[in-house]
Amino acid sequence: MGSAVWLFLLVVSIHIYIVAAETDPDDNSSLRAVMSEWKNVPSNWGRGDPCDDKWVGIGCTGSRVTSINLPNMKLEGGLVGDIFFLSELKELDLSYNKGLRGILPPAIRNLKKLENLILVGCGFSGQIPDTIGSLPQLRILSLNSNAFSGNIPASIGNLSTLNWLDMADNQLEGEIPVSSGSTTPGLDWLIHTKHFHFGLNKLSGPIPPKLFSPDMTLIHV
Ligand SMILES: *[C@@H]1O[C@H](CO)[C@@H](O)[C@H](O)[C@H]1NC(C)=O
Ligand SMILES: *[C@@H]1O[C@H](CO)[C@@H](O)[C@H](O)[C@H]1NC(C)=O
Repeated sequence: MGSAVWLFLLVVSIHIYIVAAETDPDDNSSLRAVMSEWKNVPSNWGRGDPCDDKWVGIGCTGSRVTSINLPNMKLEGGLVGDIFFLSELKELDLSYNKGLRGILPPAIRNLKKLENLILVGCGFSGQIPDTIGSLPQLRILSLNSNAFSGNIPASIGNLSTLNWLDMADNQLEGEIPVSSGSTTPGLDWLIHTKHFHFGLNKLSGPIPPKLFSPDMTLIHV
């Protein structure tokens, strides 16, 4: 009986601990700065605590903000610097917000824990930064249906955990980068990537045979 009560209290207190974690002060201020830069954020943003009061689209693990999921919200603005201070962020999905514009800043490299970067159908433009190759945990990279231009960064070949790569329907040009030697990465290094989508761009040159190797787990190009 006694131990059952203790177990009950333990379970209740763990539950309270998990549910009532106040947002880390740095994440709190980063998120509020992002909020002030975006139009049409969900109506409960700004009220109380982001994690504790469950701001729409914000996911937390303990006190840290680990996901932002805001597809199709008519958001307007850009990827401003403050979002790159959310150092525990694993998932960023801002798809189908045409009013999100501007570049994907090189500071994306600061989001070292990022696993999913999903920016489908937004208004982003400019070059895809080389620093995208410095996200060691990235599994899903979906940048399709934007206005990205320039070349596909060869550094993407560095993303050894990448499972899904979609860059279709942009203004990308040049050739599909393949590796040279063991130091210059190329997309042929992505042997775990199951989906490559590059259609509806301005890419040129032949599809390099080197892109395909027997080690690949590719399902769909
Ligand atoms: C979050 O920021 C707001 C506004 O600056 C502040 O009132 C609140 O106390 C902060 N919360 C935490 C947990 O730091
Ligand atoms: C490859 O990834 C490592 C580790 O994340 C990083 O230090 C390096 O700069 C990346 N190289 C390129 C070409 O992106």
